[in-house]
Formats: sequence, C-alpha cells, structure tokens
Amino acid sequence: MVKLFDSYTIREITLKNRIVMAPMCTYEAKEDGEVQPFHLTHYGSRAVGGVGLIITEATAVLPEGRISSNDLGIWDNHHIEGQSKIVAQAHAYGAKAAIQLAHAGRKSTVDGRVVASSALAFSENYRTPEEMTLEDIETVVQAFAGAAIRAQQAGFDVLEIHAAHGYLVNTFLSPLTNKRTDDYGGSAENRYRLLRNIIDAIRLKWDGPLFVRVSAHDYTEGGLVPEDFIQFARWMATQGVDVIDVSSGAVVPATINAYPLYQVPFAKTIKEGANVAVGTVGLITTGQEAEQVLQEDSADLIIIGRELLRDPYFPYRAAQQLGVTLEPTVEVYKRAW
Ligand SMILES: Cc1cc2nc3c(=O)[nH]c(=O)nc-3n(C[C@H](O)[C@H](O)[C@H](O)COP(=O)(O)O)c2cc1C
Repeated sequence: MVKLFDSYTIREITLKNRIVMAPMCTYEAKEDGEVQPFHLTHYGSRAVGGVGLIITEATAVLPEGRISSNDLGIWDNHHIEGQSKIVAQAHAYGAKAAIQLAHAGRKSTVDGRVVASSALAFSENYRTPEEMTLEDIETVVQAFAGAAIRAQQAGFDVLEIHAAHGYLVNTFLSPLTNKRTDDYGGSAENRYRLLRNIIDAIRLKWDGPLFVRVSAHDYTEGGLVPEDFIQFARWMATQGVDVIDVSSGAVVPATINAYPLYQVPFAKTIKEGANVAVGTVGLITTGQEAEQVLQEDSADLIIIGRELLRDPYFPYRAAQQLGVTLEPTVEVYKRAW
C-alpha cells in the first residue's frame, strides 16, 4: 500500500498527503517585508500542484532578524493581511499552510545591529555579531510570540520555528557558536534555553500544530550530531512541539557530502530515539524515494525543496510514478494526467 498519499492529522489539522513544500526564501519582498503578487502565484502554484502542506519561506519576526531586505516579515500587524492571502491561496486548492518564523542572527545582512549567542562571525564575509544581552533575548522571545499571534490572525494552520542553518536559534544550540558563560551557554540544557523559552512563549498563544526545524548535524568536530537531538527533541515534545523538521548544516562553514536521501538517517535517529514525529528533507526528487522513506518508517512527512521549484506538480508526477491516481485540484487538469 502506497503511504505517500495517506492523510496525516496533527492536533485538529489534517494534511491530505505526506508531501510538504520545504521553506525556501524567495527574496521577492520589498523593504517592508510585505507579501507581493509573486508570493501568491508561487505558493498558489504548489497548492494547485497537490502539495499537502506548504511551509512558506523564513519570515522575519523582527526587521533586524531578516537575512536580506527582501525577506518576508511578520514583525508588524501590517503584515497580517498579505500573509492571509497566501493562506487563502493554499486553502483554495486543498493545501494547508505553515509559516516559518525566523530570526537570522549573525547571518543577517540588513543594516543595523547584528546579534547572536556569541560575538563570532560566520565567516569573513559576514559582520561580527554582538553577544546578546538578557534583554535582547527577552525581546526575541517576545517577537516570536507576537509573530505567532499574527500568524494565527492570518489563518495559518501550522507554525514552524526556524532553529536550523546557522540562524539565531541554531547559534545558541551548537557549542561551536555558543561560547556563553551564563544560563544560555555551556550544557545542552543551557544551549537549549532560548529555544525552550521561544516554544513556551508561542505555546501560550498557539494551540495548533507546531514544528521546529533543526540542523541535526554540524559536520564539524566538536559540533552537534543527530544523537544530540534526541534529548533536544524529547524536551521539545514535552513542551508541545508536534513535528521535528530535520535538516542539517550551515551553522559553521563545512563541507557536506550530499546525495539522495542523505538526511533521512538523521530524521530516523531522532524519530526512534525520542519517539517523536519527524519530517525529512534533502535531495528527495522522486515518488519512489519519498515512498521508500515512509515504508521504512524513517519519517512521517516528506519535505521537498528544489524539486518543487523545478516542478510545482511534483505530487502528480510522484503519484504517476507510484501508480496512484489523484483527484485533481483543478478539475480540467485531469485531462493532462
Ligand atoms: C532557494 C532556497 C531557499 C531556501 N530557504 C530556506 C528557508 O527559508 N528556510 C529553511 O529552513 N530552509 C531553506 N532552504 C533549504 C530547503 O528548505 C531544503 O532544506 C533544502 O533545499 C534541501 O532540500 P531539497 O534537496 O529538496 O531542495 C532553502 C533552499 C533553497 C534552495
């Protein structure tokens, strides 16, 4: 029995299948972080293409937490209306919508203060951040909570906290970037504290499904490995996180040997070790690959990035590859498949 097109229920939300669009920055916003017509077409196309859940691109919880000045934002109430249009586009074609709440930390390239767990630059091409004060930390925690409220008002079905790829939260989790000597540095418990506070602050405002994206491997000696995330994931589950979205890398410059399904074992390690639901991502490009992951029970959700940039109709192609007939999101498209 093919599993890729089985529905999946998280709290009150049911995804029609296991195919999730990965969060991918499009850098098509203007300085104000507002949704543009492009975003509606871009995400709407993947909804028409049959994706079960669309996770929108990293969306900044504070203006200084943008990667670039073309990032989407959710730091102000004026963003709610535009974001609600993305949700409406997704829902119109049967997809659920998630927003990835993000703070770029030391990878921000916008004007203004750059902050991170410690005053270490990512590379010589980046500015050296200021080590965050306790007041800065509280500001960021409240910014995530405020963003969660706005996301709820925009109608999102799922929230995802971006704790991967070397952005702010990741710089606290990894011992390679966190050299703090206070309650936010040192032990795993302390390095987890910022994420703990963010999850708790969001959970006070949000009852719906909550995902956290992590970088499960730093690919550098002395850095994090998937086994470290078993404990982190147990803590997250206790706090009400529903799904760990398992990515890897980018907290420090490192060489990554990427090949089809290369991050699946990380997801499986966390799923089995912490008994949590996981999504897996990374070089999954065919229906057979996606199905194999589910058949082997390595992950609960299949997260697709670049293949969905190449082909918004990936779900229909995957169905064809697996001998499944899908109901079309637009009736007349039946004639094409
Ligand atoms: C253009 C582009 C933008 C991306 N932006 C984000 C992002 O905003 N947030 C994030 O967590 N990952 C981001 N990623 C990583 C993807 O979500 C995904 O993990 C990665 O592309 C590997 O999956 P794939 O091989 O299916 O593309 C981005 C990747 C690409 C190609």
